[in-house]
Amino acid sequence: MRYLQFLSQMHEIVDPGTYLEIGLRNGNSMSLARCPAIGIDPDFTVTAELVAPVWMFRTTSDEYFERPEPLAPFDGRAIDFAFIDGLHLFEFALRDFMYVERNSAPWTVAVLDDIFPRNVDEAARNRHTNAWTGDVFKIIQVLRERRPDLTLTLVNTMPTGLLMISGLDSKNTVLTDQYDDIIESTVKPDPQDVPAEILERHGVITPEEALSLDFLKKLREQRPGGGPEAEKRIAIVPRRPLAGPVDVVRHPAGGTPAASAKKTAPATKTASTAAKKTTVPGSGKMPAKKKKKSFASRVRRKVLGAPKK
Ligand SMILES: C[S@@+](CC[C@H](N)C(=O)[O-])C[C@H]1O[C@@H](n2cnc3c(N)ncnc32)[C@H](O)[C@@H]1O
Repeated sequence: MRYLQFLSQMHEIVDPGTYLEIGLRNGNSMSLARCPAIGIDPDFTVTAELVAPVWMFRTTSDEYFERPEPLAPFDGRAIDFAFIDGLHLFEFALRDFMYVERNSAPWTVAVLDDIFPRNVDEAARNRHTNAWTGDVFKIIQVLRERRPDLTLTLVNTMPTGLLMISGLDSKNTVLTDQYDDIIESTVKPDPQDVPAEILERHGVITPEEALSLDFLKKLREQRPGGGPEAEKRIAIVPRRPLAGPVDVVRHPAGGTPAASAKKTAPATKTASTAAKKTTVPGSGKMPAKKKKKSFASRVRRKVLGAPKK
């Protein structure tokens, strides 16, 4: 089974109320979302048709999660389901997981892409192949050693496997506390030493087995509003202002144009204007607060037509 097919079925089973994706590219994986979603990528060109209300941020995950309220688009709700598929370097994948966990709930499921390089070249930190996993595979061993409390499920999807992580704890500081030590002991120059157990995918289960794991249903049941409330969730609109630049907001309820989001032509005039007004060029830092109406309230009025609260 290919990873997108697996993710599509995960969306059905997990039935998240909130979805966050790091690494959008063309939006192929984001197009599977059916609930309010946040997408983060400094260089996306979304061409896939998006169905969900998606807030797309043209920035790095590091910058995004430095913002004071990264969950503002979800009105402060935790991430129910995350797909981590940003920069394929170990330390980035680790930090991306740490960001997701910090904003997680006990029922959150995170999936990381590209954990099984098929050869040493694909695993190189300096990319020189078309298909590229980088050294993301190292996160398996690090989490096994440092976070035995997490449940790791290795899934044998094509082309390069997925790691499903559950049992997240937003208060756990082990990875933050040990971050420098982890990086020093794990990040090595090329060529990478890829263990046979990675190349041969030891310990994997089939995608079908993963999709039928009982704990996925149990996690969903734990979540307030899980399951039958799904129809209502599509209407979530953040009530708190979004801090920082936002590139594109796409909400089907507002009848905004299709989800194509290119650097030069953001999908909505409102979003484009907001991005220009709130970005501090070259700083990557939060702009000073302005007195005018919040971006979220302008979106509600101009794009969504929802009454202001
Ligand atoms: C493999 S692609 C994502 C593919 C997409 N998830 C899919 O399956 O359709 C990786 C993406 O990560 C983005 N990326 C690179 N560095 C990043 C960072 N620091 N933060 C977030 N995204 C990043 C790249 O711009 C690229 O579009």
